[in-house]
Amino acid sequence: MLSGMRPTGKLHLGNYMGALANWVKLQDQFECYFFIADWHALTTDYADTTRLKLNTLEVALDWLAAGLDPNKSTLFIQSHVPQHAELHLLFSMITPLGWLERVPTYKEQQENLTGKDLSTYGFLGYPLLQAADILIYRADRVPVGQDQVAHVELTREVARRFNQYYPQANLVDYQGARHVERIRREILPEPQALLTPSPKLPGTDGRKMSKSYGNTIGLTEDPSTVRHKLSMMTTNGQRPTQNIPGDPDLCPVGDMHKLFSNPVARLFIDAGCRTAKIGCKDCKVLAAESISQHIAPIIERRRQLEENIDGVWQILRDGAIKAKRVANSTLAAVRGAMGVSRDIRSIRGRFPSLPTGDAQESRDLELWSSVDYIVSSPSAKDQESFIDQLRIHWWRTMVPRDIGLKRPATNYENFERSLEEPYMTQAGKRVLVSVCEGTPKSELTIHGQALTWAFRIPQRSYEVWTLLLYRGVSASIRDRGGEILAIIIPQKVFSQGFALARRSIGKGDRLPISIAKTQNSRFYLELGPEQTCEVTQWRGNYDPLR
Ligand code: TRP
Ligand code: SF4
Repeated sequence: MLSGMRPTGKLHLGNYMGALANWVKLQDQFECYFFIADWHALTTDYADTTRLKLNTLEVALDWLAAGLDPNKSTLFIQSHVPQHAELHLLFSMITPLGWLERVPTYKEQQENLTGKDLSTYGFLGYPLLQAADILIYRADRVPVGQDQVAHVELTREVARRFNQYYPQANLVDYQGARHVERIRREILPEPQALLTPSPKLPGTDGRKMSKSYGNTIGLTEDPSTVRHKLSMMTTNGQRPTQNIPGDPDLCPVGDMHKLFSNPVARLFIDAGCRTAKIGCKDCKVLAAESISQHIAPIIERRRQLEENIDGVWQILRDGAIKAKRVANSTLAAVRGAMGVSRDIRSIRGRFPSLPTGDAQESRDLELWSSVDYIVSSPSAKDQESFIDQLRIHWWRTMVPRDIGLKRPATNYENFERSLEEPYMTQAGKRVLVSVCEGTPKSELTIHGQALTWAFRIPQRSYEVWTLLLYRGVSASIRDRGGEILAIIIPQKVFSQGFALARRSIGKGDRLPISIAKTQNSRFYLELGPEQTCEVTQWRGNYDPLR
């Protein structure tokens, strides 16, 4: 399940009752992705972006305060997952202009938002970007309001067209009623709009509550402001003089009571209004109190969250890392289908005389995972955090989720030691995770440089040894990023070599060992000059952790 919200700043009760409260419930039933659509905000508000990032954070604070839980749902910011943009671009190739021009919101918004020039490329593509948002997670349900249904409909059409042009199906394991079978599934499943059952929530002027009407009551509005706004609220012509009765079903204040007051209070108001026994002034005070009581816990949580803005931002960045994993797998299938994948294997058959070494190389290139967000400089402290960040990157983004690997705490007081603390699999296997940067060997190959990676032999024993081979774009400027390859070696492969190597050196000495990559992408573990074994088959292979 996936949905998004544009970052309009602090949320109001309409956003809450119309969407957010529903999302909070849904996260217990479904695997949910919720994101803040900051790129979508740019389609209409590109002229002044001074508040965009702040508004994005405001929305995140309100989400968390209202009960979206990062342990249940994946919460992130759209622009932190640039994969959406690549899919949008690829979709733009197959989407007829007419489809976009016919989406009702296109003309409507251009007419309504008169202060803005919306004759832009980006604004026309708004619903197509939304289609990419949805399809990149292969979401099957999209909880939205009525105004978004046309966008989900376009999404279905784009998916259908894509699947028509590129009919390769994914084979997936399907758990049927009785047995597991392999079924064929289109690359992009068509999603369903899930209409949010939105109760009628009027703004202070009786129209739909909306920021553009200036009739909102904030989700975290303080009690005195709520009371003031309610006191100004229209009764829609009900009870112009207080001694004649009214109908709370026709009064926006009556709607507020229906949403926020308890049943006893509601009966009291209903009867009081219909018999003119209660004044509108008192009725509004009671409505304000009901609202404030309802949102009091949200206000308190938001206050606490505001004391830890960095933590909130980190939640969003972590969410993006999780989201990228799913997005990348869809994108890999889409690229493959559209002929722009990075894998050479599908065209190698055209050159039958090639030696098999190149097949190795192409598989090798596939298995390197790019690291693009680690910021670090070569100082000693940063060197430590760099190593640990690479381990965390591997743990978060490369280890398959079903393995449920547990990470040890890093102890910066005794960093060397904590690097030998094992990661633990669900089955209780102890896994050593070592990181090393590659150093170029002298000879250049057509694929770049042949590399070796040096490690130290560990002191303790482990069931599995994971080597993370890093090759950076630049050794001195690490934040340019690089790539890592994981080689996951089971004990039976390295234990004998370790034993021999340990015997040949004094106790406590640390023998350097290395991984060497040959020109045709075979990997060898070298434990001293005599002990060499091939570990090519264990690269990117997570079976030893299962
Ligand atoms: N267009 C949506 C809105 O204005 C926000 C949005 C962007 C969205 N991408 C989405 C909603 C994907 C659902 C799914 O409310
Ligand atoms: Fe509306 Fe309350 Fe007045 Fe009735 S008493 S008209 S519900 S404000």
